[in-house]
Amino acid sequence: MAVDISPVTLEPIPLTQDRQYDFAAIFGNDHPIELELGIGKGRFLIQQAEARPNVNFVGVEWASRYYRMVAERAAKRGLANFRILRDDAAHVVKHTLSEACIDALHIYFPDPWPKAKQVKRRLIQPPFARVAARALKDGAPLLLATDHEDYAIQMEAVFRADPDFEQVSRAIGDDAPEGVTNWEVKFRQQGRTMHKFKFVRIARATVR
Ligand SMILES: C[S@@+](CC[C@H](N)C(=O)[O-])C[C@H]1O[C@@H](n2cnc3c(N)ncnc32)[C@H](O)[C@@H]1O
Repeated sequence: MAVDISPVTLEPIPLTQDRQYDFAAIFGNDHPIELELGIGKGRFLIQQAEARPNVNFVGVEWASRYYRMVAERAAKRGLANFRILRDDAAHVVKHTLSEACIDALHIYFPDPWPKAKQVKRRLIQPPFARVAARALKDGAPLLLATDHEDYAIQMEAVFRADPDFEQVSRAIGDDAPEGVTNWEVKFRQQGRTMHKFKFVRIARATVR
């Protein structure tokens, strides 16, 4: 039987419209908002939504196959604190989030675009750090993971260089705490090296 995914899906905002998501209206409460970009099969975000009902979770996924799969799983579980959006992660952060609306940002195993001519397609670049800083609340954590060494170097350098972020931790290989995303489970089984970073959004200056 077809599952009604409408309770857990978010409508993309068209590029031509200057609108932003109103999460309090979407969820009907003012609980914290955690955002994951590129959720894949959604293991991490669904687990979090089940474990922490007083936090709202929003996942962005470009691939329609994963989007549909995760939406059906979340809808079957009746998760009221979960929404999934089929859209481009960079577009969502840049154009559809209001200032200081996100309480935590999760980016796990973003596509590494390993070939030299593809590197410009990577999500984490200096302009992305700027728009992420705008969307995050003061003190909000940003959590990153990758198995790709070159991208690890890039992501750490990008957020270290951004004046609105402060690094909290870096953990590589055996030091990296175990996570639960689908890709992490697969990559660990393959013996790949994990690189994990945590930053926080520095508090905005107060105007006197
Ligand atoms: C390597 S997978 C990691 C999935 C998940 N984070 C995990 O760790 O299991 C990367 C995911 O990002 C999605 N993705 C790639 N580019 C994207 C984009 N521009 N916007 C949204 N999602 C994207 C892919 O479809 C894929 O599901």
